[in-house]
Amino acid sequence: MATTEIAPYGGVTPDAAWAQEVRELARKRDAVLLAHNYQLPEIQDIADHTGDSLALSRIAADSDASTIVFCGVHFMAETAKILSPDKTVLIPDARAGCSLADSITADQLRAWKAEHPGAVVVSYVNTTADVKAETDICCTSSNAVDVVRSIPEDREVLFLPDQFLGAHVRRETGRDNIHVWAGECHVHAGINGPELADRAAAFPDADLFIHPECGCATSALYLAGEGTVPAEQVKILSTGDMVKAARSTSATSVLVATEVGMLHQLRKAAPEIDFRAVNERASCPYMKMITPAALLRSLRENADEVHVDAETARRARGAVQRMIEIGTPGGGE
Ligand code: 13P
Ligand code: SF4
Repeated sequence: MATTEIAPYGGVTPDAAWAQEVRELARKRDAVLLAHNYQLPEIQDIADHTGDSLALSRIAADSDASTIVFCGVHFMAETAKILSPDKTVLIPDARAGCSLADSITADQLRAWKAEHPGAVVVSYVNTTADVKAETDICCTSSNAVDVVRSIPEDREVLFLPDQFLGAHVRRETGRDNIHVWAGECHVHAGINGPELADRAAAFPDADLFIHPECGCATSALYLAGEGTVPAEQVKILSTGDMVKAARSTSATSVLVATEVGMLHQLRKAAPEIDFRAVNERASCPYMKMITPAALLRSLRENADEVHVDAETARRARGAVQRMIEIGTPGGGE
């Protein structure tokens, strides 16, 4: 999807009247509002829960609300629908896709599996429902290492679709029988090693919070390995774990390598810390399609409803359920 060609819903100011109408409509619809950490600040602030992919999936699965309004991207809302097929799941703008999820199709995965019979398929949650239906266990960035550790050492693993997260998992588990799909998120891949090295040199005392989808994750570990940045200042974290780390670090400044929406929760969690983006242009156009106007439209019109066909959902459910059972609570729970 070329997001530059798509105009998000606009024309609504997120003022007090907007907030009141959103809350009122959510109450009438018996809806819980979930927002990912990359959403616009006003969307994060109006949501019932803001968090990382794992936390939001678990909250969606446990919620008593009959409607889930997922302020995030399409695969996140689809995951909620797979876990709760009887609930109404809405996304304020169904055009909010994900370049990483688009980097592998179910046909491509079936062909890859045929080349590695007997391998265990681990798919990042950033995949379509059709890909999840071909998967043994899903994971998020916060439990990818735990998920792979749960697989017997002698079994081959197909890890998809993110090559940088796959490299992180391979490094952390020390396994050499993991095959990694060569996909990437265009936003995170653009946060590169030279940029990180420059920023780290300008702020030598800063902690580095790096999302494992970033192109610079390997460079960060290299900087730590050669002593340019003390190893204890380099932290590879999911978005939710960044919020937890912000609460516990003694650093007074932190360089953040992920989508810039993350800065809002970090500054709320630790207002005394100076948080700076490694790359200020790292904004996800899909996440930013969930505008105040889109959220209001969603609640007024019961749109856009997310559907996953029953057979695909049945085949995907086991992999998603295993994902929410493995690992410590995601950030935001
Ligand atoms: P997490 O919130 O799980 O770290 O995921 C980041 C992401 O890129 C979602 O699209
Ligand atoms: Fe997808 Fe990247 Fe946007 Fe996350 S930041 S939704 S992985 S395109």
